Formats: sequence, structure tokens, C-alpha cells
Amino acid sequence: MLSSGLNKILLGALALATAASCTLWSPSSDTACKAIDLALPHGRVNYPDSPTYAQENNYWSIRQTDNIAPACFVAPKDAFEVAATVKVLASLNTQFSVKGGGHTAFAGGSNSDGGVTIDLMYLTTLNVSSDRKTVSIGAGNRWINVSEALDTLGLVVVGGRVADVGVSGLILGGGLSYFSGMYGWACDNVRNYEIVLASGQIVNASPTKNEDLYWALRGGGGSNFGIVTRFDVAAYEQPGGNIWHNSLIIPGAANASAISAYQNLTVNGMPADNKAHSYMVLTHMDMLGGYAVISDLFHADLPNTADSAHESVPGVFEPFESLPTIMKTKSIVNVSTVSREIDVPYGSRQTWWDTTVKATDPSLLIDIVPLWQDHVEKLLAVAKGSAVTPFLAYQAIPLNVLKAMEANGGNALGLKQSDGPLMLIQLTAQWADSALDDLMERSSEEVIGKINDLAKSRGLSHGFVYANYAGNRQSVFESYGADNHAKLKQVALKWDPEGILRKLWRGYFKL
Ligand SMILES: Cc1cc2nc3c(=O)[nH]c(=O)nc-3n(C[C@H](O)[C@H](O)[C@H](O)COP(=O)(O)OP(=O)(O)OC[C@H]3O[C@@H](n4cnc5c(N)ncnc54)[C@H](O)[C@@H]3O)c2cc1C
Ligand SMILES: *[C@@H]1O[C@H](CO)[C@@H](O)[C@H](O)[C@H]1NC(C)=O
Ligand SMILES: *[C@@H]1O[C@H](CO)[C@@H](O)[C@H](O)[C@H]1NC(C)=O
Ligand SMILES: *[C@@H]1O[C@H](CO)[C@@H](O)[C@H](O)[C@H]1NC(C)=O
Ligand SMILES: *[C@@H]1O[C@H](CO)[C@@H](O)[C@H](O)[C@H]1NC(C)=O
Ligand SMILES: *[C@@H]1O[C@H](CO)[C@@H](O)[C@H](O)[C@H]1NC(C)=O
Repeated sequence: MLSSGLNKILLGALALATAASCTLWSPSSDTACKAIDLALPHGRVNYPDSPTYAQENNYWSIRQTDNIAPACFVAPKDAFEVAATVKVLASLNTQFSVKGGGHTAFAGGSNSDGGVTIDLMYLTTLNVSSDRKTVSIGAGNRWINVSEALDTLGLVVVGGRVADVGVSGLILGGGLSYFSGMYGWACDNVRNYEIVLASGQIVNASPTKNEDLYWALRGGGGSNFGIVTRFDVAAYEQPGGNIWHNSLIIPGAANASAISAYQNLTVNGMPADNKAHSYMVLTHMDMLGGYAVISDLFHADLPNTADSAHESVPGVFEPFESLPTIMKTKSIVNVSTVSREIDVPYGSRQTWWDTTVKATDPSLLIDIVPLWQDHVEKLLAVAKGSAVTPFLAYQAIPLNVLKAMEANGGNALGLKQSDGPLMLIQLTAQWADSALDDLMERSSEEVIGKINDLAKSRGLSHGFVYANYAGNRQSVFESYGADNHAKLKQVALKWDPEGILRKLWRGYFKL
């Protein structure tokens, strides 16, 4: 009797508290910042008037900071501090986002206007296991931090190709790498994730621990499952971290022959030589005399140690030798050096969109070019001389990569060998004038639509949308296939039953 009465009172109090927290008491982000400041050691929370805040509110794409200001940045120093931060945010119902390397192109991708942005910059663990087979990488590292350390050790990981890009976002979305031909994408090479769940609990996910979460994190993105604090990834021997690299600039008028060579490389060359890696990018730049094709060829085998070794060409790239070039730069370089060479500077407005088609017919890939060229002509006309640099990138997903993706039970991306070989088509642009933002988005969306329609009309559509290259209006997880999408939702529901992340973590792709 007494105990049931007590229960009633307790339940009543609980109901009141719940109602209050939902309706009457709606704390501002400032309250959350102050609460986190109390929960964490001094100095982790930075407000708009501090120099550290200014340093943190600096992102690769200007669109992430233009008129965007979080109430505070929170920079935890370890997984426990991340957990404490998440607990406060959840209990106060505060909107937030998470910044890894901050390389998402669109506004709000990894910054929270008026909310709280958790900046992982202090999670810089970098530890090679004594058997040299695993590297533990803190979620706040950039790829340059990883490659600089590993080059010295003669090791590489299947990771980002560009220096300043964040380790976190790249692995969580998939991750195309110099070494993907042998080992698949970055996500396929994660042996274990340490992750802070919506509840604040810290768990590990691996092939033998929390397997469903492990599967979901390989391509399912982070923002639906928790904040990953550490990636333990496979390391591979690569003396000096060196690779063979040839960078070609081909006149735009030769785009058809260049694209044919790239298509053949994708369909025939790469599967026969899985140490080869390459991308091909069309652009329009005054300094290149207008339209041009940039083709980068990489190979993980080094010819030999002679001074002129870099001049010899791996057989798989022989067909590229006959293409006309404006410039050709062959070298043997370590990963950190090449990743710096191709780094893309901060300071522009950016948009990225993508789709995937079957790679079996070169004429489809060639006929996509005029669709892009119309878009470029329109943009250049409207820009009236203000800076606009457009790109159309082809990135192979050959059969050998699709096969390597099957490791550890397969990832969540839904890419099957039976659908391949595939070509990822990426449409990006950088520009200066914010007045062009709407046109950029609308026109990019339109080109992607036209590419998909053309592919469909030829029976060559696929439609996979790679999260890491996607525009914010694209349906990423839907493109993984109905089964994978449903399974991802189920896993998210299991690990975040109250939907805290769905509700509070804004701005990125949701399941
Ligand atoms: C110049 C450049 C070069 C690139 N090169 C490549 C390449 O070679 N290969 C390739 O595959 N892709 C490449 N990309 C794409 C890149 O993978 C994505 O932009 C990726 O999201 C960047 O990760 P980030 O941590 O820097 O981004 P962020 O914007 O910080 O994060 C991306 C998303 O992940 C979330 N997130 C960040 N950290 C965590 C975490 N620890 N746990 C959970 N969620 C988190 C963020 O909230 C955000 O939603 C490149 C991009 C750029 C701009
Ligand atoms: C690095 O790994 C070693 C064992 O390989 C371990 O003893 C050490 O604690 C690790 N250091 C960090 C910072 O994780
Ligand atoms: C990561 O690399 C950059 C560029 O070299 C450097 O400025 C930064 O200090 C490095 N971070 C860590 C944690 O080593
Ligand atoms: C990588 O290459 C650069 C440029 O050649 C060189 O300065 C650097 O020492 C190399 N790193 C290692 C670890 O060898
Ligand atoms: C592609 O090549 C054709 C000629 O084959 C040319 O007319 C067109 O302008 C080229 N497009 C680009 C973007 O270079
Ligand atoms: C296509 O690729 C194969 C395998 O690398 C090569 O032998 C052949 O010469 C290429 N064909 C053309 C037309 O480039």
C-alpha cells in the first residue's frame, strides 16, 4: 500500500518533469554550453569571443561558416569527455553537430548554427600495434597526420588521398584510397570502431563485437549511430610509403579519347592489376586555356631504385602514353607528399553532387560531357567574370574493388559485383559570389538528373549516391537499396531507441 502510494508520487513527479522538459523548460544552447563547461575540465568550451572559437569555426567550404555561428564549440579530449558532452546535450534537448575534419561542402554539414558543435580536434591518438598490422587513429586526425607518421614506418592504410581531409568523415562514408584496388574502400579496412552512443555509453564494434553496429558503420555514416572516437584500421607494408604517380593534363578537345582510355582502365586494366589506382577530372580553368582533362595515375609497385625509375610506366597505364598532353609529371612520392600536392585550399564556396552509372560503355561516359558543358557555360555566363571553377570527375569502381568490399561480411553501401563495373560520377564546383549559390545547387541537381536519365535510357543506370560526395538534397541511404536502408534503420533504432541523434544531430544525411 505504502509502496504503491510512493510509486504514484514518483511516477507523478517523473511525468511532471518530462512534461516540463518538453514544453515549459526549453533551455537555450547557451545553457547547454554552460552545463558542458561544468561537466568537463576547464577550457574545453569555447565561445564566440575567443580566438580558439575563431580557429574552430574555420571550415574547408566557406558555406559552412558564412552566417553560421554555433553558441559554442566543445572540444573534448577523450571518449569519456565526448560521452559527458553527449549526455548533457541529450538531457537538455540541445541541437548539435560534430566536426571531424570539416570538409563537407554544404552549409550545416558539420557545423551547427545556433547549436553546439562538438569539435574532435583533440582526439589525436595515433598508435601502431607492435605487429605493425593495425593503426589506432583518433577521430580528430587529418590524413596528413596519419601518412606523415606511417611514411616514416614504411606502412600505409587505406585512407584519404588528400592531406587536410578528416579521417572521420572519410571512413564513415566509405573512403576511396590509393590502395582501394587491393583492399576496397577505407571502411572495409576498419577492424574496430570505438563509438559513443546516444546514451553516452562507450562501445566497440568489430567483426566479433556488436557486429550489426560494425556493419552499419561501414558506409552508414556516423550521424545516425553515435560519435566515433577511434578507428582501428588495417595497416599494410609499403616501403617509405612510396607510390608511383603520373599526373597528366590533357587538352579538353581530347576528352573522348581520354575518357575511353579511363573506361578501358576501369573495365580491363584495374581488375588485371589491382595495384593501379586512378581518377579523371574534367575542368574549365583560364590557366589551362579553358577546358582540360586532369588524369592522375597511381601504382603501388615501384619500378626499381634507379634515378630514372619513375620514367618507366606500369603496363596497365601504357594506353595513356599516347594521349596528347599539356603537361606530364611522373614521380615516385610518399603518400604524405602526394596528398599535400593535391590538397585543395580553403576559402571558396563549394558544392558536391554525385551519382553512379555502369562503366561498361565508353560512349555513355563521353556523352555525359556535353550535359556538364552546358551547365558550365550557363554558370560562366551568369558569373560575369567572378571566379567559378567547375569539375566533372570520373572515379572507377572496378570489379576488383567490388570484390574487396566483400571482406568481413560486406559493408552497408549495397554495391554488388553483379552490378559492376561501375563509374562514380562526381560534379563539383567552387566559386566566390554567394549570389550564385542557388543556381549552383539547382543546376548541379539538374545535371545529375540528366546523367541518370541518359544512363537509364541506355540501360546503364545504377544510382548509388556516395555520401562523401553528395549534395545535401540527395537521397544517400535510399540509394544503398531497400534492404540495406531498412537494416540500417533497424540498427539505428536498436542503438538509439529514443531517436536522440535523429532529433538533435542536424544537418547531415538521415536514415
Ligand atoms: C579536398 C577533398 C578531398 C577529398 N578526397 C577524398 C578521397 O580521396 N576519398 C574519399 O573517399 N573522399 C574524399 N573526400 C570526401 C570526404 O571523404 C568527405 O568530405 C568527408 O566527409 C570528409 O570528412 P571530414 O571529417 O573532413 O568532414 P566533416 O564535415 O567534419 O564530417 C562529415 C560528416 O561526418 C560527421 N562526423 C565527423 N566526424 C565524426 C565522428 N567521429 N563520428 C561520427 N560522425 C562524424 C560530421 O558530423 C558530418 O556529418 C574529399 C573531400 C575534399 C573536400
Ligand atoms: C599504444 O599501443 C601500445 C601497445 O601497442 C600500448 O601499450 C599503449 O598504451 C598505446 N598507447 C596509446 C596512447 O593508446
Ligand atoms: C597534423 O598535421 C598538421 C599539418 O602538418 C599539423 O599542423 C598538426 O599539428 C598535426 N596534428 C597533430 C596532432 O600532430
Ligand atoms: C616524404 O617525401 C618528402 C619529399 O620528398 C620528404 O621530404 C620526406 O622526408 C619523406 N618522408 C619520409 C618519411 O620519408
Ligand atoms: C570534348 O571533345 C569534343 C570534341 O570531341 C569537344 O567538342 C568538346 O568541347 C570537348 N568538351 C570538353 C569539356 O572539353
Ligand atoms: C585496354 O586495356 C587493356 C588492359 O590493360 C590493354 O591491353 C589494351 O591495350 C587497352 N585497349 C585500349 C584501346 O587502350
